[in-house]
Amino acid sequence: MGVEIKETRVSDAEFEEMKTFVFDYLAASVEKEEEGGRMRWYPWHSAEYRHNHILNVVDLAEEIAREEGADVDVTRVAALFHDVAKLETDQELHAEAGARVAREYLESRADYPESFIKQVCRAVEHHSYQGDLDDLALETQCLIEADLLDKIGANGTALMLLRMGYEARTHMDADEMVDRVLERGYDAASRVESDTAESIAHQRLKRVKWFKEWLEDEIAGLGD
Ligand SMILES: [Fe+2]
Repeated sequence: MGVEIKETRVSDAEFEEMKTFVFDYLAASVEKEEEGGRMRWYPWHSAEYRHNHILNVVDLAEEIAREEGADVDVTRVAALFHDVAKLETDQELHAEAGARVAREYLESRADYPESFIKQVCRAVEHHSYQGDLDDLALETQCLIEADLLDKIGANGTALMLLRMGYEARTHMDADEMVDRVLERGYDAASRVESDTAESIAHQRLKRVKWFKEWLEDEIAGLGD
């Protein structure tokens, strides 16, 4: 009595079906591209990277939503769809386009209430917002925080080093590249609002700082 039990609107099976849809959509966007139309050689323009990034954001957003008392279903579905249009649309339009894809999918499946669809699509549409996170719905805030957090930390460092390989840079440049991840980490830490995201940001920043120190310790000529 007195405890509100929130009905789960999205079953695990439905969520798995959504994942398959999103990943097929990303793979199809890459196939449709004209040769050389994009910087395809960069890892983050591949369907595989985007797929992995989305899964990371789903995990992080779900954790933040749970801790912060946001609607977990709205947040995790929005996280899953947030970059669905990323590989077929310009950066400035991908959030809006993603919201359209999400609405079309959700309206055509199961009997999701309009209020749920609206909340999911609002979060997807606003996930590129550059202003104060306090201006946004809590679920949108959780999504943006998760999106920021995936680009910092050990994973952000791995991606930056992978990029160096694509640019044929030597490992003497690694220090500078890791610095960029660190800067991005400080930006993310200053932008997130929730305590949960803030503590994840600080843990990830610490890992990058360690990595930078170890690098400078091991490579002659760095860090003097
Ligand atoms: Fe993203």
